[in-house]
Amino acid sequence: MKFFVDTADLSEIKELAATGLLDGVTTNPSLVAKSGHSNFIELIREITAIVEGPVSAEVASTDYATMMGEAQTLAKIADNIAVKVPLTPAGLKVCKNLSSNGTMVNVTLCFSAAQAILAAKAGATFVSPFVGRLDDIGQSGMDLIADICAIYGAYSSFDTQVLVASVRSPMHVVDAARMGADVATIPPSVIRQLFKHPLTDKGLAQFVEDWKKTGQTIPV
Ligand code: E4P
Repeated sequence: MKFFVDTADLSEIKELAATGLLDGVTTNPSLVAKSGHSNFIELIREITAIVEGPVSAEVASTDYATMMGEAQTLAKIADNIAVKVPLTPAGLKVCKNLSSNGTMVNVTLCFSAAQAILAAKAGATFVSPFVGRLDDIGQSGMDLIADICAIYGAYSSFDTQVLVASVRSPMHVVDAARMGADVATIPPSVIRQLFKHPLTDKGLAQFVEDWKKTGQTIPV
């Protein structure tokens, strides 16, 4: 399972990339606004230089012609760009166009299995179902992931990767892994939570204390 970080914050990306566990980055217009950066293209260029894996950069327009122009600009930033387009008829038309030219595409704002089928048919590299936002309205985000994984698994012609988005907790990540989802894009705070267990902290403190009692050091 691949881990992407869901942020446009450069210092968070650098810190998490240093763990060696990061496979990519996703951004969206809200995350870019939150980052406070005033030059979107430069921000994305910097991110693509930090992480080798796919970096999702989202178009800002909603009509086909402008989206297509924006997508071409974004795709030129670096080889590891995945152009992010919304799951709309125009977005999927852009997706079909870009993917047939070998550009990675992340189809975002997916909330149903029917939409995920359309994204696969449009040749998306990734489809992003938003689990947290579905949970928020009383629907099961993880049931949608299970459905999409089952449907994609039934067709060898579908090679779109399931990118679990709007992740809110470590349980979302574990459930997604159990279902065989290809990728989870995870906020930095949740990535940090994945490392944590009180028994790890307690056990380590004990080992450190007991080691001191031996009076020894390991040569470095
Ligand atoms: C996906 O790529 C989106 O950036 C993201 O996961 C949205 O999450 P949110 O629902 O927490 O805003």
